[in-house]
Amino acid sequence: MDKILVLDFGGQYNQLIARRVREHRVFAEIRSCKTPLAEIREAGYAGIIFTGGPNSVYDPASPRCEKEILSLGIPVLGICYGCQLMAWLDGGEVGSAGSISEYGKVELTVRKSPLFDGIPENSVCWMSHTDYVKRVPDGFSVIGTTERCPAAAIADEERRLYGVQFHPEVTHTAYGKAMLRNFLFAVCGCAGDWTMEDFVKTSVEKYKEELAGKRVLCALSGGVDSSVAAVLLHRAVGDRLTCVFVDHGLLRKDEGDLVERTFRERFDMNIVRVNAGARFLAKLAGVTEPEKKRKIIGEEFIRVFEEEAKKIGHVHVLAQGTIYPDVVESGSGESATIKSHHNVGGLPSVIDFDEIVEPLRPLFKDEVRAAGLELGIPYELVWRQPFPGPGLAIRVLGEVTEEKLAVLRECDAIFREEVLAAGLERTTNQYFAVLTDSRTVGVMGDARTYGYTVALRAVSTDDFMTADWSRLPFEVLAKASNRITNEVRSVSRVVYDITSKPPATVEWE
Ligand code: XMP
Repeated sequence: MDKILVLDFGGQYNQLIARRVREHRVFAEIRSCKTPLAEIREAGYAGIIFTGGPNSVYDPASPRCEKEILSLGIPVLGICYGCQLMAWLDGGEVGSAGSISEYGKVELTVRKSPLFDGIPENSVCWMSHTDYVKRVPDGFSVIGTTERCPAAAIADEERRLYGVQFHPEVTHTAYGKAMLRNFLFAVCGCAGDWTMEDFVKTSVEKYKEELAGKRVLCALSGGVDSSVAAVLLHRAVGDRLTCVFVDHGLLRKDEGDLVERTFRERFDMNIVRVNAGARFLAKLAGVTEPEKKRKIIGEEFIRVFEEEAKKIGHVHVLAQGTIYPDVVESGSGESATIKSHHNVGGLPSVIDFDEIVEPLRPLFKDEVRAAGLELGIPYELVWRQPFPGPGLAIRVLGEVTEEKLAVLRECDAIFREEVLAAGLERTTNQYFAVLTDSRTVGVMGDARTYGYTVALRAVSTDDFMTADWSRLPFEVLAKASNRITNEVRSVSRVVYDITSKPPATVEWE
């Protein structure tokens, strides 16, 4: 299997570059620019991509790699800062001039080159830079220009070194996908044979061998990542895997049963379901502050899991559903660390085990879903929308009680049904109901009512770091509102949340 190294110089688009490579069915991994040369040589990469980054090559503190990387005989594509660094390392000159800086869509003119095979002479590319390559190194030639950038693309075709000042990985670059394809196939000679079927098969074989005779424990939440990790490991180790599913009583309608049924009946897995709802509610009594709720739930989750794990006794391996974005976000190198929510981060410290396995570590979310389908996990589970670890506790505003949870569950189920019935579940990324803490006056028949206000929230997003509210059709909202007020007594008003993130967050608490 061919592998491409995406060498991280701190750019915002690093994950996107790896995604784009994998879309061509070539495996790509992101590693820090400080990765020792010997490791890079040993890993046998078919090609290397230098990412962009916010720095200037002249700044002594800027991230760099060793110059010899250009002499390994491995093709390199430098993007933006990566292009400047490549030119600078090889003896070229990089300039910084405000008047040259370009931002946004710019017309690009290209010359004949394997990188631009099949691409028109003039097309649009996406630029975002202040520095630029002022003089190309010996052996390089200019293969692309824009009005302001005299070396928008450079190449030393003999050494298979390419650099582009623009960003081929973003969709605004009209032929960016084709350029990456040319780099991967024509320049690096990749075969494009990386598939999820292969991934599942090789992973199962690998864990069969590595975990032979070992007992494995997995915390199953019913979320996509832990489910796929559990089923994959189950294929490898069978009933030596035990899954513990802590039902904290804060799940959506019928969710706990669905998770249990799926894994017990469909996969015949060893699953321990702990119905700990009463325990969690007791701890949450009287608590209204959102962060305090989160903390209590996180701690209680660990306590319950710990007690169950003790009953099982010593296990050799703890399995976790960590996926690639978690790995990269927690700092692969130069990119800014982005805070993420972790559900089971505290587990390793309380369980007696020898090693951790993370079978999904190389995969992006959509690849995890593809692996899930490959493993036979039902569509509803694989395409389950994200659900926060603290569950409905952060969607019942104020104090959490059994009565409020029951009201919210019904409203949420109706809203989800209507989104599904309208076939919108793939166009909106997260959709749910919130039980607000305010009651309002209504009228039903001839009588005055005084019931809950329920808010509906639906967002569209790529990464949940920013999000826009989904423009759901009015008919869908109307039907949901109508059904909720008719079917759920104690609700007298339904509102739709039209705030983006920022300034609001996705969840209300
Ligand atoms: P926010 O509200 O931060 O949500 O805009 C972004 C995404 O994260 C989920 N979320 C959580 N997930 N534990 C989790 O596991 C949490 O405490 C938590 N809070 C928010 C939220 O559902 C959305 O997908």
